[in-house]
Amino acid sequence: MTVKELQDEIIRLKKEKDVCILAHAYQKQSILEVADYTGDSFGLSVQGRDAKNNNIMMCGVRFMAETCKVLSPNKRVYLPNPAAGCPMAEQMSVEELRELKKKHPDYAVVCYINTTVDLKTECDMCVTSSSAVRLVGKMKEDKILFIPDPNLGSFVADKLPEKEFVFYNGGCPVHYMVDEEKVLQAKKEHPNALLLVHPECKSEVVGLADYVGATTGIMDYAIKSDAKEFIIGTENSIVEHLQFDCPEKKFYPLSVKLSCANMRLVTLYDIYNTLSGKGGEEIILDKDVIEKSSVCINRMIEG
Ligand code: 13P
Ligand code: SF4
Repeated sequence: MTVKELQDEIIRLKKEKDVCILAHAYQKQSILEVADYTGDSFGLSVQGRDAKNNNIMMCGVRFMAETCKVLSPNKRVYLPNPAAGCPMAEQMSVEELRELKKKHPDYAVVCYINTTVDLKTECDMCVTSSSAVRLVGKMKEDKILFIPDPNLGSFVADKLPEKEFVFYNGGCPVHYMVDEEKVLQAKKEHPNALLLVHPECKSEVVGLADYVGATTGIMDYAIKSDAKEFIIGTENSIVEHLQFDCPEKKFYPLSVKLSCANMRLVTLYDIYNTLSGKGGEEIILDKDVIEKSSVCINRMIEG
């Protein structure tokens, strides 16, 4: 089958089987083309919850599919490639979180959405990179235990100096690959380009950026900007999508190392096989886990 034939078959099957396909912006162009909705992790959570279909396929990583299941427990939710996890989401255990909570009993626990559903059962508030500053800013608590990403946590803390933060020593292994030296080198090579970065980058990178935001925020900023050149400090699929959307502008990767192997695992064949009942994984969660994790996830959605 050609790519076009495979895409046509996927589109036919998703209608026949009443499946809404959600694709994170880090997915390949050929996958975005068969999706009903694309976006960042916040947007996809809302779209998953609001979809009228009985079935949802999350083309992204496991925590995104889990969040979707918690928000839509009566829908069947599928992850097309079961090996697609997020190393950041899986780097902290529930036991570790309980220990940290014991050490900081008077702190409210805020988790980045990039956490397992089990961790979310222990948290007060869930945030995404696009909503973290707004949501933590609205919380009545002044003491925040932020897990697992200290980079996003520091970005939020800088914007909310009135609050006190404790961080877990985790983070994204992909965004960790870029540092100040890399930024200075990229700016030297492209002196007229604006630097747009994800808040999962180290603070030394964030501090040198012209814009800091979630994947959708970075894309919107570049599309609307009058500038003609941009250095992109997030997964390199965004460089490709922006170049596709804005052929008259130039986009440069901050580093060739900004490549998330997990996000790139998902293929059109995984989607086709899942729709045909020959692959993928249906996300099944305990009723109790859904109930407990929905507290912080619903707080995030209700905003
Ligand atoms: P967004 O919230 O920007 O979608 O980020 C998710 C992610 O995993 C970034 O690495
Ligand atoms: Fe997880 Fe980082 Fe990949 Fe995002 S880019 S899915 S945070 S490993």
